[in-house]
Amino acid sequence: MGRYTVVITGASGSVYGLRAIEQLLATGHEVTAMMTEAGRDVTAYETGFDLPAQQPEKALLRFLELGKDVPLRVACASDLFDPIASGSHKVDGMVVVPASMGFCSSVAHGAASDLPERAADVMLKERRPLVLVPRETPLSLVHLRNLTALAEAGAIVVPAMPAFYMHPETIDDQVSFVVGKVLDILGIEHGLFQRWGE
Ligand SMILES: Cc1cc2nc3c(=O)[nH]c(=O)nc-3n(C[C@H](O)[C@H](O)[C@H](O)COP(=O)(O)O)c2cc1C
Repeated sequence: MGRYTVVITGASGSVYGLRAIEQLLATGHEVTAMMTEAGRDVTAYETGFDLPAQQPEKALLRFLELGKDVPLRVACASDLFDPIASGSHKVDGMVVVPASMGFCSSVAHGAASDLPERAADVMLKERRPLVLVPRETPLSLVHLRNLTALAEAGAIVVPAMPAFYMHPETIDDQVSFVVGKVLDILGIEHGLFQRWGE
């Protein structure tokens, strides 16, 4: 099974990130999860889940209604000594969902000023899958240029754009669609949405 990093930044839509963590764990993968400071605040505001500093894995697993034996690790965004800060540590893919425009700007310019930014920088330099799920609208020219630079550097940009051709009935359906597209990019089997023509 694979080893993935999932980062929730301070863009709106932390529910996408929480669903991605839940799906990766539920399908047997190892997950290192992280929230930026703004990511933690916006997640608490939007979902009611406030990631605690003490025993964060236990709290997150309880919120996601997963058993305590799944391989989840929560890393601290300020800990530049974490294994994922180094390219010598093997990671199969990294997903930043939702990705703020601030985060995209930092990674596009190689800032690497905290663990999420450094981990993304490592994925690009090692030519490993880095999936970014930006959430902002409208997009300024600065945003578009940063996203272009990221795509040019090898990142895969999967905007949080739910579709309607599968007739979503709930917000949950729309979240599943976006997260399913992310898992498709990573080549991970899922049943999050009905495929066109199947
Ligand atoms: C309720 C709320 C919603 C936000 N939504 C977005 C958003 O959708 N996209 C975005 O780029 N920034 C959004 N922001 C602003 C970011 O949180 C802010 O730029 C922050 O500095 C991002 O930091 P980070 O990249 O370290 O997580 C939002 C802020 C708040 C408080």
